[in-house]
Amino acid sequence: MKKKLFINGEWMEASKYASLSSPYSGNVIAEIPAATVEEVDMGLEAAFQARKTMAAMPSHQRAQILEKVASLLEKRADEAAEIIAAEAAKPISAARAEVARTVQTYKFAAEEAKRIHGETIPLDAAPGGEGRIAYTVREPIGVIGAITPFNFPMNLVAHKVGPAIASGNSVILKPASQTPLSALFIAELFQEAGLPAGALNVVTGSGSLIGEKLVKDDRVKKISFTGSPAVGIGIRNKAGLKRVTLELGSNAAVIIDKDKNIDKIISRCVSGAFGFQGQVCISLQRVYVHEEQYEAFVEKFITATKRLKIGDPLDSKTDVSALITPKDVQRTLDWIEEAKQQGAKVAVGGTAEGNILSPTVLLEADSCLKVSCQEVFAPIVLINKVKSVDEAIELVNDSRYGLQAGIYTDNVHTALTAAERLHVGGVMINDIPTFRVDHMPYGGVKESGVGREGIKYAIEEMTELKLVVFNRN
Ligand code: SIN
Repeated sequence: MKKKLFINGEWMEASKYASLSSPYSGNVIAEIPAATVEEVDMGLEAAFQARKTMAAMPSHQRAQILEKVASLLEKRADEAAEIIAAEAAKPISAARAEVARTVQTYKFAAEEAKRIHGETIPLDAAPGGEGRIAYTVREPIGVIGAITPFNFPMNLVAHKVGPAIASGNSVILKPASQTPLSALFIAELFQEAGLPAGALNVVTGSGSLIGEKLVKDDRVKKISFTGSPAVGIGIRNKAGLKRVTLELGSNAAVIIDKDKNIDKIISRCVSGAFGFQGQVCISLQRVYVHEEQYEAFVEKFITATKRLKIGDPLDSKTDVSALITPKDVQRTLDWIEEAKQQGAKVAVGGTAEGNILSPTVLLEADSCLKVSCQEVFAPIVLINKVKSVDEAIELVNDSRYGLQAGIYTDNVHTALTAAERLHVGGVMINDIPTFRVDHMPYGGVKESGVGREGIKYAIEEMTELKLVVFNRN
């Protein structure tokens, strides 16, 4: 299957190609364009020219296009899920859930397109402001450069393209090298939905070549990036006056208080730790359990982990499949080895077969170990004992990251204290940090990023606030 670039509303043969292989089987699944600087430039120019058409398009029309994309995707949901499973090795049940979320995300974008507004400002609150009417409007900023990751190849594209189109911008999209097929599939739907030529351009290929070009090009007014902190910080440093939204990583944690009925939360915690092989920015990586519940929690967690089905992502019974690259398998095995050498206990897992790392539970892992203080992005979870929720909060906050955190407690005072003291972008009370629905504000503090996604919040960052003052004097 030879794919093409999507530029200026047309499918364009590229001058260079690279093979795309399944992370699970290693088999080649497609030939993907490796866009050259000149081809990226064509995409940029198309987006730049289309920005005026998009800015002039009434909001009901933008909403209609997004609604149409949502309904086309709903009709082709099985095909879409198979694409995600094939290129990302995401278990098909999780891939189906991602497609359902993507439909929602485009629906939210369609709805938000119709309620982008400013406010009136009472200028007479200041002496000298009398006799003037003032209001603000939100205008699209122009071309958005979207750089998306492999882990949610359809829904995280939707989190950038959806709000960009909803707010009358044009987009040049660079999907992750391992997951271009989902992005090209979505471009097909936008074309069918009647999006004007150039309003969405998809350029595939080398991350550094395309990323560098998008970040440095003056026609791009904003970069919206989801990926690693190292790349994100590099983008921020080079972006100059461009706006930047960065959704980066985390080593997300949950606290289990002494009063919580653990039977009800074990399977939720297991799915938070091992869903899509832990390759989720808010995957549950650290669990801090009150000492009164620790032994029981560990035992039940291990039993539930051992029940997970490992295998082919296209098998609907599979819970855990291959990591995205062999390099990641080796990296995580090295980190587990380091943890073992430093006294951590492997309660279950810790080995790999091919590209599959078996779901791994580590106990008594020190907070300075890589498996604890860095983002593992793999099916590895640490369970540690704490004497109090206070101690757990300190441990959760002792991190370079701060995306989301969870706390399970039946004590309202404890819950609200934790909500206040946890230094993260989102606190989930009585849930894992992995909870996300697509209209909530989503983003982090510290090295977890800058800015927020969740359609309404992304639109704020993709529009410019303009003030109009009418002097009646
Ligand atoms: C992410 O990994 O950043 C996205 C998580 C999600 O959308 O559930």
